[in-house]
Amino acid sequence: MGDMRDRLIIGLDLPTVEQAREAVSRIGDAGTFYKVGYQLGYAPGGFDFVKELVDGGKKVFFDLKLHDIGNTVEAGARAISRLGVTLLTVHAYPQTMRAAMAGKAGSSLKILAVTVLTSYDEADLVEAGYAAGSPAALVARRAAQGRDIGVDGIVCAATEAADVKAILGPDRLIVTPGIRPAGAEAGDQKRIVTPAEALRLGATHLVVARPIVGAADPRRAAEAIVDEMAGVS
Ligand code: C5P
Repeated sequence: MGDMRDRLIIGLDLPTVEQAREAVSRIGDAGTFYKVGYQLGYAPGGFDFVKELVDGGKKVFFDLKLHDIGNTVEAGARAISRLGVTLLTVHAYPQTMRAAMAGKAGSSLKILAVTVLTSYDEADLVEAGYAAGSPAALVARRAAQGRDIGVDGIVCAATEAADVKAILGPDRLIVTPGIRPAGAEAGDQKRIVTPAEALRLGATHLVVARPIVGAADPRRAAEAIVDEMAGVS
């Protein structure tokens, strides 16, 4: 199972590179894997900071959720593969997933597909022009398409992990946010599970942001989560 630290992805949901650098420094070797999303990635110096993390020996999940015409996604994934990041997200449209897989070919970059954003319910999907149907059915359809195209994994709520794993099989990545250690504030997350529960449901990697970067002692918070993960048999 390797080092459990490598299965905890710490979300750097911070507005500036300076704050992110300080968080990474305080977490020290308790953190090996970081997620950079829109807020930090598009902040001044964001892309250079991603490179700084990689050069400092950290793994990076670049959560850019790409979606564009195939040619553009392919070129973008190729450019991002050269940054040395470990994971990149794209929206789970078949054309987009195929393009990202073509763009990263020959590199060690892994492509994760985002099936249906968890902020979308059926009414949001209908408003966006989809036929009525449950978001869960669309998650399942897109997970199966991602599997057939060969994407490396799926991002989903931990509560969906078992269903997604049944579709993907044992060898793909299942990356789940919405994790809260027992007793932590839920914040705006509505469907939360504990780190241990998420692993039992089939998650291979957990994304945790506020309970670590917002903690008085972020290093200790990260260590406590890794300890809880390591206790799962
Ligand atoms: O602070 P918290 O641990 O809730 O942060 C979770 C991270 O995972 C945030 O970066 C959030 O944007 C991301 N995320 C999420 N739910 C999804 C997809 C991504 O919380 N469905």
